[in-house]
Amino acid sequence: MKLFRARIFTPVADPFRTDAANSYLAYDDGFLAIDRSRIVGIGPWEQHPAGGTVIDLGREALITPGFFDTHLHAPQLEMIGSYGGHLLEWLNRYTFPTEAKFSDPKHAETIARAFFDELLRNGTLCALIFSTVHFEATDIFFAEAERHGFRGIIGKTMMDRNAPDPLLENAKTSYEQSRELLMKWHNRGLLRYAIAPRFAPTSTPELLERAGDLKREFRDAYVHTHISENTTEVEWVHELFPEAEYADVYDNYGLLDEHTVLAHGVHLTEEELDLLSRRGARISHCPNSNLFLGSGLFRLHHVLDYGVIVGLGTDIGAGTTPSMFAAMADAYKVQQVQGVPLSPFELWYLATLGGARTLSLDDETGSLESGKSADFLILDLQATPLIAMRSERAANIEDLLAGLIFMGDDRVVQSAYIAGREVSRKAG
Ligand code: GUN
Ligand code: ZN
Repeated sequence: MKLFRARIFTPVADPFRTDAANSYLAYDDGFLAIDRSRIVGIGPWEQHPAGGTVIDLGREALITPGFFDTHLHAPQLEMIGSYGGHLLEWLNRYTFPTEAKFSDPKHAETIARAFFDELLRNGTLCALIFSTVHFEATDIFFAEAERHGFRGIIGKTMMDRNAPDPLLENAKTSYEQSRELLMKWHNRGLLRYAIAPRFAPTSTPELLERAGDLKREFRDAYVHTHISENTTEVEWVHELFPEAEYADVYDNYGLLDEHTVLAHGVHLTEEELDLLSRRGARISHCPNSNLFLGSGLFRLHHVLDYGVIVGLGTDIGAGTTPSMFAAMADAYKVQQVQGVPLSPFELWYLATLGGARTLSLDDETGSLESGKSADFLILDLQATPLIAMRSERAANIEDLLAGLIFMGDDRVVQSAYIAGREVSRKAG
């Protein structure tokens, strides 16, 4: 057994639906006990169990759950900041040419290595990830995730129209290759498979049919796609699928259930939100991307009022940073301009336990509670002179978290553990 001694903060319940005071545990001088891959205790230091190796980190360290990035694109790491156009223009001008490079496995290996290094350095210990349309590149992303000890849900992008030829496949091949990758990687260690039609506009009805077939064969596989990000995109979907609302398109092919994560959902109608709620489908809110592409302002409380579960995503490369500190800060700002302040407890929940719920992994991870996997971060409250000053003067845990949300980045993440294994440590 190992006993980590430090400040500790963890959400344990949803602060949007319970009293803030009952939604977390916080200890100024606490212990986190782990036995191999599991958490076996948490509490104030004076109640720590006897025995075990003590790792005393002092009051300048904060232990907290790892972050969950519920939507991003691994192949887009190298194109962050490609500026100018809104969604459809941005896809054509930058994204499709960048993804076409992944027909080369060497390129895929280079980016995959950098990608998981980068996520871990930023404290993201679990993510739902789009690959490209390429079979081999997707296999490489899985292999690198495994090598890094990362907890990931990954899927080969499925697309068979409205993109350049090198990125198009036919529906049958898309099904067969996705199925082969799913059989190899789904439920292997910490990895899961996501059936991933890119979005309705790059899918023929036949492709969606095939994606639905796969989902019927493998009920616990995830479905990962985009929905209602941009108003021009929504109009285009109405032209391509005139019989249905955007959410109905996915529903008509059996693609909506509790293992479905839809990125964005900025412009969903009330009927669509009602449908998502009935199906249990989740939404990944990506504030940084929505601001960067000018997609619109997500109405968080409106969506939550329908009972839809929401997580936070960076949506790299439309998002401009892998940092979930930035995702929290941007989520705050997007609600703030709409007159709805979010608390640090709500933001931290969205980035941790709320993310685990979005990915249906909250029985296993997402908070520091006995029985769960030992997935956690050690944050350095003295990472920079300014953060040290701000942290020392924090009035309470809420204020301490607020400072980290708005000033924190990869420099704060001292080390990271997944299933009790150290997967990242800051140099020096
Ligand atoms: N919609 C379809 N593909 C994409 C993508 O790669 N990024 C974003 N932000 N939206 C999309
Ligand atoms: Zn995306």
